[in-house]
Amino acid sequence: MDRRKFLGLAAAAGTAGAWPRDLAAWAAPTHQLGRYALPRIPVVSGDGFTLTARPATADVGLGVVDAWTLNGALPSPTIRMRQGETARIELVNRLPEQTILHWHGLAVPYEADGHPRWQIDPGETYTYDFRILNRAGTYWYHPHTHMRTAAQTYMGMGGLLIVEDEDESSYALPRDEHEIPLIVQDKRLGGSLSLGYGLGMGPDMMMGYLGDTAFGNGVANPTVDVRRAPYRLRILNGSNARILDLGLSSGQPMTLIGSDGGLLGAPVPVDRVMLGPAERADVVVDFASRRPGERIMLRSLPFQIPGMMMGMGMGRGGPMGRGMGRGMMMGGGGLPQGTGMDLLELVVQEGPAESGPPLPTRFSEVPSRGEVTADTPRRTFRFNSMMMNHTINGLTFDMSRVDARVRRNQTEVWTFANDSELPHPVHVHAGQFRVLSRNGGRNRLMPWETGLKDTVLTLPGERVEVAVRFVYPGTFLLHCHNLEHEDMGMMINYEVTE
Ligand code: C2O
Ligand code: CU
Ligand code: CU
Repeated sequence: MDRRKFLGLAAAAGTAGAWPRDLAAWAAPTHQLGRYALPRIPVVSGDGFTLTARPATADVGLGVVDAWTLNGALPSPTIRMRQGETARIELVNRLPEQTILHWHGLAVPYEADGHPRWQIDPGETYTYDFRILNRAGTYWYHPHTHMRTAAQTYMGMGGLLIVEDEDESSYALPRDEHEIPLIVQDKRLGGSLSLGYGLGMGPDMMMGYLGDTAFGNGVANPTVDVRRAPYRLRILNGSNARILDLGLSSGQPMTLIGSDGGLLGAPVPVDRVMLGPAERADVVVDFASRRPGERIMLRSLPFQIPGMMMGMGMGRGGPMGRGMGRGMMMGGGGLPQGTGMDLLELVVQEGPAESGPPLPTRFSEVPSRGEVTADTPRRTFRFNSMMMNHTINGLTFDMSRVDARVRRNQTEVWTFANDSELPHPVHVHAGQFRVLSRNGGRNRLMPWETGLKDTVLTLPGERVEVAVRFVYPGTFLLHCHNLEHEDMGMMINYEVTE
């Protein structure tokens, strides 16, 4: 297709446009060297624990690579805590550059939140001390270094932080060996074997750093044996930029039980779950009725994002791509957003079917963030991407500038307006919010958005309203969790005041 025809197609598609079919096809695996056993991540308690950031080598199945790690492990250890406990964690920096860790999804005091203001030099130590206020759920910890969050996370730092509480423990959910925590990340191997982070110009800076190979818990093309029983999969999309549209090759529904901030109000069967970077899905999949020997693939199904063609900078906004050929526009490294990818193979073992107790039909009511009335303060944050410039309300990040002030314990309604032609997974620090509505684009709330959330995906043209309320005073961050967008400044400070 020549450039003129391409532009014509883009213009005709308008904001309702979509990827041309050929771009939304399935990934041809770049490495067909086999599949590798999904590692069980070692679990530690967060009381008196040290995390040392340091380079190390790691076996990713395909081979041994250089990585940046916490305690030499890829992925970092899973921290398991109960609500009400106190986390006392020391971060020791043995990297050749500054770093800091953030507890994604948790409500913690300002000094413990991993704001880049707190990043430490090589050789230094940072001490975290905070109480777990959050409900049971699957949270994440990862670096939050100024303009280096993407690189440090991509190169291997970060792990799960699983919180338990009494409410959740009262339900008969699959546990122990019937629970599979799964960190999905796409890595750009491009035929070589390296976790090196080589952000290019152009497409990488618009779309983010998209990979070509699916990793699960730090291993490429993972596979796991399952018994003929129900399993709980705690899935984190830990990718820098890739959106996942999860589904099973067997066509069986998954039972969605939770999202970012813990259990939903009730389990709900779903065929697909779309997760932007940083979002989590807690699903139960029942293998009791499957045939021994059956191989079921957890995949990211191919999808198209309306309006996204334009995101190449040739639509409304203007000529980011003037002078660039189509190859360059499309061809960052990695597979285009929306390409189908196999994420995790589940192999059903021989043995009797174990059905276990049925799932409850309801869970506890999801906590609100307070009552929303006509008097509730409202503000709008507009996300825009033009000419490789990613802004919120027209601004890029400035460490010392505060763009919004919110009273502690005050319910507010925030609107995230995606005025751009790229998807933006919007993340708010300092706790969990409720999603109230989505207008434009998909025009509705998704089942996984009915619980507590800390990250919500906005597609081009969407306006998503959320109710927020904060417990700790201090300066916190609101940003896009496409890590390249974040590092390029799609982030602001807001201050919670007494
Ligand atoms: Cu997981 Cu500020 O982010
Ligand atoms: Cu966060
Ligand atoms: Cu973004």
